[in-house]
Amino acid sequence: MLEKFERFPLTFGVTPIEHLPRLSAAIGGKIEVYAKRDDCNSGLAFGGNKLRKLEYIVPDILASGADTLVSIGGVQSNHTRMVAATAAKLGLKCVVVQEKWVPHHDAVYDRVGNILLTRLMGADSRLVEDEFDIGIRESWEKAMQSVRDAGGKPYGIPAGASVHKYGGLGYVGFAEEVRSQEAELGFKFDYVIVCVVTGSTFGGMIVGFAADGRADRVIGIDASGTLEQTRAQVRAIVDNTAEPRRSGAPGRRQRDRHQPRLRLSRLRCSEQGDQRCDPPCGPHRGDDDRPGL
Ligand SMILES: Cc1ncc(COP(=O)(O)O)c(C=O)c1O
Repeated sequence: MLEKFERFPLTFGVTPIEHLPRLSAAIGGKIEVYAKRDDCNSGLAFGGNKLRKLEYIVPDILASGADTLVSIGGVQSNHTRMVAATAAKLGLKCVVVQEKWVPHHDAVYDRVGNILLTRLMGADSRLVEDEFDIGIRESWEKAMQSVRDAGGKPYGIPAGASVHKYGGLGYVGFAEEVRSQEAELGFKFDYVIVCVVTGSTFGGMIVGFAADGRADRVIGIDASGTLEQTRAQVRAIVDNTAEPRRSGAPGRRQRDRHQPRLRLSRLRCSEQGDQRCDPPCGPHRGDDDRPGL
């Protein structure tokens, strides 16, 4: 289904599938665990899952004539790092709003890792006090407005690039890639398991694996701690991605009996069973100025 969508290459191509014998043994030896190494998918700022999504968004960015990418995530967001890298690659400016999603009080938490890379790549990284929430963020609207006020033209990319109209396509491509690798390996994977926060990695995979009847073999593990909101967001992404409109853009139909079902589990991150993990990015709705929504 991807042929009709434009794609701007940001990744190296097919990512390797690696057998993990020690992890397989550590969990009892009855199942074999493999990792698809999307963490090694690019030379651009360490790569990762966001680049597959951004590859289908970049053509829309270029067509929009925007001069500044504006996005949002947590302080240590992988997504904002990759938006900063994409902006640098395209020669665009970048503003990223970084919220306090995790109550982590290390003295250098907001000065190392992803946020340091984001700044080194030239992005204007703006720290705000807001905590994790799926609603529209005033801080992001302000960031978009600040670009306009300075005479610029913003292009908004939602957290994790997930509720963007093309956000699910990258991981449809992942499923197509796995199918061809399975043909080479000579076996099919029983399950695909993926971390879920903003939803388009999981959502894209569901649509991609539905093509050979395996949508229910994709298991998402919710790392956001907001399971119902995440479930709703994944549902919407699956529906949008699975039902292309005549324009070629994914549509917004209601789910019908032909559409893939979700399989989303809750992750318990601490011994107490609370949700204090560090979501790499989180679900946020965009504002009106995002051409992709
Ligand atoms: C490494 C990694 N895996 C998985 C996810 C989840 O992806 P998504 O936001 O598309 O649900 C993220 C981002 O949150 C991530 O950074």
